[in-house]
Amino acid sequence: MIHGGVGMDKTGLVTKLTEMLAQENACAIRYATHAAVVEGPYAETVKARLKEIAGDEARHAEILRDRIVALGGDLEMRVRSEDLIPAKELTRILKLKG
Ligand SMILES: [Fe+2]
Repeated sequence: MIHGGVGMDKTGLVTKLTEMLAQENACAIRYATHAAVVEGPYAETVKARLKEIAGDEARHAEILRDRIVALGGDLEMRVRSEDLIPAKELTRILKLKG
């Protein structure tokens, strides 16, 4: 049992953290890709911000990897494909979540 009454055992926690890791991996790739291809007004400013966010997502993934290892879990290198959404136009990029 985890504090706070979540009721998840270690295996369940590792499974959830592994799912989160796959999402963070995908988001890091998506933001970095969008930074490379973004078009439109303010593209250079947006590109810089997207690169920062890609770095944030990569750090989140690193934290999750460390937690999974600390819990004795096996690390996976999966990417959550639902989060790999191509876009070049700023309006479309801004509508994406995650
Ligand atoms: Fe994140």
